[in-house]
Amino acid sequence: MNILTFQTQEALNKAGAGIITALVQTNPKARLGLATGGTPVGIYQELVDAYKAGTVSFQGVSSFNLDEYIGLERSHEASYYRFMQEQLLGHIDIAPERCHIPNGMAEDLDAECRRYEQLLEDSGQIDLQLLGLGHNGHIGFNEPDVALTRSTHVVQLREQTREANARFFDTPEQVPVQAITMGVGTILKAKMILLVVRGKDKAEIVKQALQGPITTECPASLLQTHPHVVVLLDQEAGSLLV
Ligand code: GLP
Repeated sequence: MNILTFQTQEALNKAGAGIITALVQTNPKARLGLATGGTPVGIYQELVDAYKAGTVSFQGVSSFNLDEYIGLERSHEASYYRFMQEQLLGHIDIAPERCHIPNGMAEDLDAECRRYEQLLEDSGQIDLQLLGLGHNGHIGFNEPDVALTRSTHVVQLREQTREANARFFDTPEQVPVQAITMGVGTILKAKMILLVVRGKDKAEIVKQALQGPITTECPASLLQTHPHVVVLLDQEAGSLLV
């Protein structure tokens, strides 16, 4: 694991975007695994700026998002589909037909999970999977549990997760209770994982995930088993690492 700590958000954002840009420049058909939440927003902004400056083109790139809420229309202001359009995909030259996200409105959710997992399987290995970190150690929406599910599946969201994400909704009750997420096995198949974490409120879980025991009670700790993980932290998130 290569852990890098940055003094400013700007430096972190530029480093994260630089890793992704370098990958796409060297592999124009790169397969990117993308994440939502507050954490990647600054990196996405840097990618949009790089595209607008003519530094990078995403024409041949494919994207695969980690997760999506169940029961929100794509047009809902808090859907991950809309988030991705507004933060990144709608501002770059990526082909819409190569942008993939689970369909949280599917009538048959189990069939949708199988479809998404098969799509990932057929598309080939993800070159870079971008990840944020939940306060309870979740990655994607893989919540802590006595056992984890390997592939794409439906998950019940923990109250802590719903509370953390309530800021994206008008009222806390509107936060969906379920989501579709890539499984931890799906995530670990990526060639490289780029984990990004910011803020003092994540310092304790960063320590557990990166330096604690490998346990399903902290899903991010399984990243310790992956051969190519780069972690970008701000100083606060990295403040408890020894
Ligand atoms: C969300 C997402 C995760 C994200 C995490 C942290 O619920 N499903 O993919 O990494 O929680 O979110 P944030 O970056 O807003 O702190």
